[in-house]
Amino acid sequence: MLNPFVLACFSYALMLVAFYRPRHRYFHIPVMVATIVFDVSMPIFLYTHRHWWHRLIEQDDIFSFGIWMHFGLLITLYALEAAQIWSARKILKGDPLARTTHHMQARALLLVRALVLVTGGVQADPA
Ligand code: HEM
Repeated sequence: MLNPFVLACFSYALMLVAFYRPRHRYFHIPVMVATIVFDVSMPIFLYTHRHWWHRLIEQDDIFSFGIWMHFGLLITLYALEAAQIWSARKILKGDPLARTTHHMQARALLLVRALVLVTGGVQADPA
């Protein structure tokens, strides 16, 4: 029963652990980088492994509110992930203020990522 949604939930749990273990840099950084790579890879996987043309165009799902909500949240997630990398680089350069920014963005990112999972999960169709 290892489908993309289950994997995404697992990566969310791992991200939560890394969120509470920021001082363990050798754990925090690889987990966060892997999660971001996972998030970027997922649309590519779905594009290559799902009948998206049938689903979106032939079944008219492109006009559904859920698809657009999911899409909007995904763009927000990517923006937050880019902002996290930017603030992380500042932390590593020794900027003390960047830590607060990174922390605040982290909370928003966790919320948005949860919403991306929920809005994606309800629309998942393995066919
Ligand atoms: C490429 C991605 C990321 C890198 C390179 C990175 C790197 C870092 C580094 C170097 C620290 C400071 C650790 C220390 O104090 O020794 C930190 C702290 C932290 N990171 Fe990240 N991080 C990344 C992504 C994320 C994400 C996606 C989240 C949230 C889901 C997150 C949440 C946090 C939190 C909550 C802290 C503690 C900030 C504080 O001191 O209050 N990070 N991160």
